[in-house]
Amino acid sequence: MATINSNYDKLPATYLFSEIAKRTAVFAKKNPGVEILKLGIGNTTEPIGHVVISGLKKGVEKLSKLSTYSGYGDEQGDSRLREALSNWYKKSKIQIDPLEIFVSDGAKADSANIQSIFDSGNKIAICDPVYPVYKDSNILAGRENIYYMSCTEKNGFFPDIPKNKVDLIYICSPNNPTGAVATKAQLKRFVDFAIKNKSIIIFDAAYFAYISNPKLPKSIYEIPGAKKCAIEINSFSKWAGFTGVRLGWTVVPMDLICQNSKRGKLNSLWNRRQTTMFNGASNIAQEGGLASLTSDGVKQCQKVVNYYMQNAKLIRITLERMGLKVYGGQNAPYIWLKVPLGMTSWDFFEKLLSEAHVVGTPGSGFGPSGEGFFRLSAFGHRQNIKKALTSIEKNLKI
Ligand code: MLT
Repeated sequence: MATINSNYDKLPATYLFSEIAKRTAVFAKKNPGVEILKLGIGNTTEPIGHVVISGLKKGVEKLSKLSTYSGYGDEQGDSRLREALSNWYKKSKIQIDPLEIFVSDGAKADSANIQSIFDSGNKIAICDPVYPVYKDSNILAGRENIYYMSCTEKNGFFPDIPKNKVDLIYICSPNNPTGAVATKAQLKRFVDFAIKNKSIIIFDAAYFAYISNPKLPKSIYEIPGAKKCAIEINSFSKWAGFTGVRLGWTVVPMDLICQNSKRGKLNSLWNRRQTTMFNGASNIAQEGGLASLTSDGVKQCQKVVNYYMQNAKLIRITLERMGLKVYGGQNAPYIWLKVPLGMTSWDFFEKLLSEAHVVGTPGSGFGPSGEGFFRLSAFGHRQNIKKALTSIEKNLKI
């Protein structure tokens, strides 16, 4: 007799962004012909530059000839891409061996799957509010022991180290959803805590390219000792426009150790997990990834990142002009707005949609401390962003 994984029943009925899509569709059906402007999900919109496109095309072309065709590749990723990523870290004076890098089809899957190499009894610490994947993946794995690290106006939306011992600590910086960015000193406190307690930090750096302040760390490995206690998950989605192409990577350092593991063990466990459950990233996507890491590729990708950050600036300026309290959006593509008039986040979602026809993401969808806040995404075509802002300024009654 088959039985379901009843941990699914412990999750909200729908994933946050599916719920938003559902509510938006209901509004669209009731209001035919109304243009809905989407600043909800962080989905890229701008075309990929020609250098990276040439790389992707090269990947396709290679499949057309017997001499260059390839089928399954290494589950860990093309060795050229692992090498290129290792060299890319070197530019920031970070030494990561290619064998410590696992190429994947994106950071979302890796951030959901990484917990599988840890004991189901491990206590996890997550931020509140949080990117839902970290929490939901642990609940599905049967972990109920969750420590919430509150991120509020008071602490600048970056939490203090846990008061008690925890085993796995998830940190995302630049942060989704609040747009806050951890300083080196803040990350150092977590690294010191993790080393002391033999905890592991799972650091999501998917938005690293949005940091323009040179003092802010783009990788946890900028912090001394982090290789002993941190896994870094990263992505080509938000900096190379690969949200649909799908490509990411995870660093599991050889030096990483926890309570019952020796040097190299966690790296070999992730290798075992990936070789068992994953057949490697697309060879076409990996050629694109390689092209994006060339100096011209990096320049072209950064140009698009700067474009989104210009959107972020416009959003901030407009909302501030309206007298709203706005956070984030300075070294991050998300704007975290304080909901006016003491409304709930979902009330504001409905109000923004019905009055201005703009879709955003309710802060409470990311956790209880997100209540009273609202996330707007700077990913979007300039024309749509401007249309949305004009409509908000003209039609939103606050
Ligand atoms: C978001 O809007 O939070 C992100 O686009 C979701 C993701 O990257 O999976």
